[in-house]
Amino acid sequence: MSQTNINDLNPYLHGLFAPVEKEVAVGALEVVGEIPRDLHGGYFRNGPNPQTPPTGMHHWFDGDGMIHGVWFENGKARYANRYVGTQDFKENGASPLTGIFDPSHDAPGRKVHYRDTANTDLVYHNGQLLALWYISGQPVAVDAETLETIRTETFSGKLPKNISAHSKVDPETGELVFFDYALYEPKMWTGTVSATGALTQFQEIDLPGPRLPHDMGMTENYIILHDLPVVFSEQAIRNRMWQIHVADQPTRFGVVPRKGGDPTWFEFPTCYIYHVINAWEDGDDVVMAACKMVPNGLKPDAKFGPYAAMADVLALRAQPFLWRMNMKTGEGREEQIDDAVSEFPVVNNAYAGRKTKYSYHVIFDDCVEQRFSGLVKYDLETGASTRHDFPEGVFGSEPAFAPRVRKRAGHDASNADGEDDGYLITFTADLGGASEAHIIDAQNLTAPPLARIKLPQRVPAGFHGVWAQGV
Ligand SMILES: [Fe+2]
Repeated sequence: MSQTNINDLNPYLHGLFAPVEKEVAVGALEVVGEIPRDLHGGYFRNGPNPQTPPTGMHHWFDGDGMIHGVWFENGKARYANRYVGTQDFKENGASPLTGIFDPSHDAPGRKVHYRDTANTDLVYHNGQLLALWYISGQPVAVDAETLETIRTETFSGKLPKNISAHSKVDPETGELVFFDYALYEPKMWTGTVSATGALTQFQEIDLPGPRLPHDMGMTENYIILHDLPVVFSEQAIRNRMWQIHVADQPTRFGVVPRKGGDPTWFEFPTCYIYHVINAWEDGDDVVMAACKMVPNGLKPDAKFGPYAAMADVLALRAQPFLWRMNMKTGEGREEQIDDAVSEFPVVNNAYAGRKTKYSYHVIFDDCVEQRFSGLVKYDLETGASTRHDFPEGVFGSEPAFAPRVRKRAGHDASNADGEDDGYLITFTADLGGASEAHIIDAQNLTAPPLARIKLPQRVPAGFHGVWAQGV
C-alpha cells in the first residue's frame, strides 16, 4: 500500500471525523425553537483538525487542535472556529516532533516528545480559555471572545514544566489545579495557579515507573492522581499502538494535599480510567466518581487495515463507578453506579470538587467508530438515569452544563436555583455534513432541544467541551 492512500482506511479522517478547511466567525444564526434569555456565555469544544492532509500513518489524537465555539446572549447566537496556535502548529513541518505512530523525538528546550497539538481539553481560567493536551504539553491561552491564540501560557515564566488535559478549575477559589506526567520518567507533578495567574504550589510525586494517566480528581483539599496499569511503549508504536496494558499491575489512586505534602495511596482492583466524573470530600472519605473502562466486545476490524488497532482502542466503553478512600483508616471501597455504558462525563462545574448529585455523559451507538448517539443524566446517589437521544443519524459532542442566569436585586448573577437548574449545550453533526448547536433543558432531558442553532459549517467529532459563563 502506498503512503498516499493509507489514510483512505483511516476511519478518523472521514465522515464525522473529517477536518474542516475554514476558520469562520458568523453571527445572527438561524434558530429552530427559542434560545433561552437566561442563557449567557460560551460553549467551546476542542478537537483534532489536521491543517494539512496526513500522508503517513496518522492517529486521531495527532490532529492540530481546533476550537469551535458558540456564544449565547439575549436570545441570540454566534459561532466561530479557530486553530489552537501551539508552537508546533506555527512551525508546521519544521518541528522535529511527529505523531504518536512514529518514534518520539527530543525537542530542544521543550519537555514534549511528540507534536504538541493542545487538541484535547479546555478549561476557563483567569478570564481566558486554556487549550490542554492529553500527553501533557504547553498550555495555550485563547481569547474566549474571538478564539484567537494569545500565547503559550507559562504563568509569567513560572510554570516549571507542562500541564495535562483534565487539570481543573476550582469554582470557589478560581484556582487552576493541575497535574503533569511524563512518558519516560517515574514521576508526576501537581500544582496550583491562582485565580489571577500566579503559580502558588508545585511538587513532584514519585511513582514505581512512568505512567500514562488521562485525568485526575480534585476536591476542596486534595488532588487524586491515577497510577493505572497503562504505560507508554516504543515497542507498541512499532505495532501501531502507543500504549500497553500491564495486567498484573494494580490500580492506585494517590490522594495529594493541594497545599503540598505526600500522597496517601489507595490500591484497587486493576482497571483503566479515562475520565473522572467529579470528586469530593465526605467526612473522612475522599470520593471519586469516574467512568471505568470495560472491554468493548469488538474484534479489531480488518477493513481498517493498519488502523484496526487504533479503531479498537477508540471504541471505548465504560461504566460509572465510585471509589471511597478513607483518610483516617486507609481503607478503600469501590462501588458501581450503573452497568450501562457511557463516557465523557461532565457536571455543573460550579460544583466541581464538591458533592454532585447529577452528572451528564454521552452514550454510544453500536458503531465501532466513536460516535455519540445521545446523552444520559445520572443521579449519582441512586444510579437512576434519563436519556436524550439525538435523531437517527445525528451525533453529538461532549456537552457542557450552562447554569441558568437568575436576575436578582437588579443585577445578573449566576445563582441558579439548584445543581441541575440550567442547560446542556452540545454540537451535533449528521452524516450529510450539517451541524447544529443544541440547547437541552437539564431538568427535562427526554424533551426535544429547546433550541437548535444552525451552524455555518460542520463541527467534526472531537474531544472535550467547556462552558464559560458570561463571555
Ligand atoms: Fe479526555
